[in-house]
Amino acid sequence: MSGRFFCAASIVIFGGTGDLASRKLIPALCRLHDAELLAHDFHIFVTGRADLSTEAFIEHLMQREAILFKKDKRFANGFAGLRSRIRYLRANPALPGEPEDFKNRLLAAEPMAAPARLFYLAVPPDSMKSFIRLIKPFSEENTDSRCPERILVEKPFGQNLKTAKELNQSLLEAFTENQILRIDHYLGKEAVQNILFMRFANTFFEPVWNNHYIDNVQISFSENIGIGGRAGYFDQTGILRDVVQNHLLQVLCMVAMESPLSHLPGDLHLEKNKVLKALRRYQPEEVASETIRAQYSAGEVDSNPVLGYLEENGVRPESKTETYAACRVFVDNWRWGGVPFYLQAGKRLERNVTEIVINFKPLPHSIFKDFTGKIEPNRLYIRIQPNEGIILKVNSKPPGMNLQVSDVGLKFSYESEFGDYRPDAYERLLLDALNGDSALFLSNSEIEESWKFIDPIIEAWQSDNQPMHTYKAGSNGPEEANKLLARHGHRWRPSII
Ligand code: BG6
Repeated sequence: MSGRFFCAASIVIFGGTGDLASRKLIPALCRLHDAELLAHDFHIFVTGRADLSTEAFIEHLMQREAILFKKDKRFANGFAGLRSRIRYLRANPALPGEPEDFKNRLLAAEPMAAPARLFYLAVPPDSMKSFIRLIKPFSEENTDSRCPERILVEKPFGQNLKTAKELNQSLLEAFTENQILRIDHYLGKEAVQNILFMRFANTFFEPVWNNHYIDNVQISFSENIGIGGRAGYFDQTGILRDVVQNHLLQVLCMVAMESPLSHLPGDLHLEKNKVLKALRRYQPEEVASETIRAQYSAGEVDSNPVLGYLEENGVRPESKTETYAACRVFVDNWRWGGVPFYLQAGKRLERNVTEIVINFKPLPHSIFKDFTGKIEPNRLYIRIQPNEGIILKVNSKPPGMNLQVSDVGLKFSYESEFGDYRPDAYERLLLDALNGDSALFLSNSEIEESWKFIDPIIEAWQSDNQPMHTYKAGSNGPEEANKLLARHGHRWRPSII
């Protein structure tokens, strides 16, 4: 998707002392440097509200990421090369005179005159606007349309349609649309990108990729981790906004969209947007029967006892924030009319897995009635993580004299096919952002359409006509999620790899 055209010669990370910067962004930049994919004089400016020296920041980073550093050679090698080009700068929009002051300090720290910069906003949603004001002067000054400043905005993009629109408005006051990159890191995952290749670089999936052959589609995101140190953010957000509004709806778009005219940004955005527009919006009275929300109670994960959500440090004791959500969704268009898409996402579940299951329709007629074993409808598993791969479940005859039928898997595994190298999603997306390739980023319209689908659910939940179910930490989620499918003659079909 990206050529090796180096445009941005530096990155300025706001929220640079946070988790995302130290766990994902800086390691990803180091790996890109190790792979010689960054400009030879590339600089990283990390900013935070506190007054810190660069040495203190580097020390802090290395302590915090000591384990990752030890086991990830590409990170360590890249870091050795980039270390002298990482600088820490204070950026605190609350201080009087900070915009001017910050600008002067950044200019003074840069090695050359006004290189094009990539600004990365990895700050909490309520402070986004103040940081946009801080960097507005840079965008106004750079008039080089071949190599403009760019701004990359981390999710969550607003908390609902209204705040997303406000955020977009402030971005557009400082930047033009083609300078803005709205990230959803799921689009940078190899197995998510591959959905496009699987569907549109092969001939045999598309003829059956519709409501004539597909019975239902399941998209599941399951994590065994809890909320870690992110209670402040998560308790205000919930899993529906944290994961479903963005990651799962984007994955759904990749599964459901029509063939784009090309893989170029405008064509991809257009087709994803059509899917989001076709998502059936729930009426308030439908939310109770079509969605499930739940919180985890105390339980065990990997044989270790863990707290329930309401006991977690930083969570309000009366919190009504969901840690699990499931819903039955319809894409109301010609291709998908009548096919339910079941989405589920949860924290503190038994497994750590994200996958798509395409459940095909049952046979119209079986000639194997006197055989033992059951003819299962075909299923296609697309495993996004871990053990990325694709498995097609097909019925076949086990060898032997018995009249028997059983389903087996035709398997493609990334690891056996390509070895264990898979760039992290942030590597792909940072490189694309530096090169100005926006294909794997979101258009504003996609974000707004996603909120139009999510907002009515949250509004109905908040008006409290839907119960908050519970599930034991370490389990498969609330029983009600099984009932949601069972009511329509379906069941969750997780893969067993
Ligand atoms: C983030 C969410 O966007 O995605 C987190 O805020 C979640 O809550 C994470 O844990 C999952 O990302 P990944 O790449 O680990 O699947």
